[in-house]
Amino acid sequence: MVLVFAHRGAESIAPENTEAAFKTALEHGARAIELDVQLTKDDVPVVVHDYKLKRYNKDAKLAVNQYTFDELQKIDVGSYFDKQFAGAKIPSLENILQFIPEDIIINIEIKNSPVAHKGIEPKVAALAAQHHNLDNIIVSSFDHTALLKISKCNPDIKLGFLMHYPMINAGRYVSMTGLNAVSVHPFKKITDAAFIEECHKYGLKVYPYTVKNQKEKDRLIKLGADGVFTSLETLY
Ligand code: G3P
Ligand code: CA
Repeated sequence: MVLVFAHRGAESIAPENTEAAFKTALEHGARAIELDVQLTKDDVPVVVHDYKLKRYNKDAKLAVNQYTFDELQKIDVGSYFDKQFAGAKIPSLENILQFIPEDIIINIEIKNSPVAHKGIEPKVAALAAQHHNLDNIIVSSFDHTALLKISKCNPDIKLGFLMHYPMINAGRYVSMTGLNAVSVHPFKKITDAAFIEECHKYGLKVYPYTVKNQKEKDRLIKLGADGVFTSLETLY
């Protein structure tokens, strides 16, 4: 069965990575959700993609890790998208995990750019185990050392290897880590049949990111991809 992840929630119809985005994705029938995590100044894992917040609110001049969680809660990250979402907040990871049903697959992406959020891995590992069925969690990152740290915290947590650039023997590389890797998440433009076949040879699923229309999804599934991340709620 093809697995379709609602990228940052239903990001085309609600402000990305907010409670509204995840609830809207579920209402549209999403069975899998993707979200991004970073740490605040006071070390709270929060769900937000950009390191600097000005895209969400031009008055928010600082980066995520320069605000405490309480300070972040005062920033409106909904109005920029549409005034009907005025007052939307950057949620904590705990808050989101508490309301997403346990049968929904959640891909938690640990952001690493442009800074590594030191100490984020044990917090993510603990929250995932506390609030969701670990069978339905995949932790991913472009920073593969973050995945190693997750594995050290809890070797049962399933891992997804994000790849933005072409890589020779990607499946072999991932399998050689000896970690609990279940999937490779390549940028859609580096995904071809040979890449997918090589990953499959090592028992890894392939979920390319981020498709924006039916044609892109169809191309990747025809090549053999096991699912996709998508910004479009009609593709769930
Ligand atoms: O996890 C897939 C995708 O979300 C990675 O890129 O920049 O959208 O977080 P980005
Ligand atoms: Ca992401």
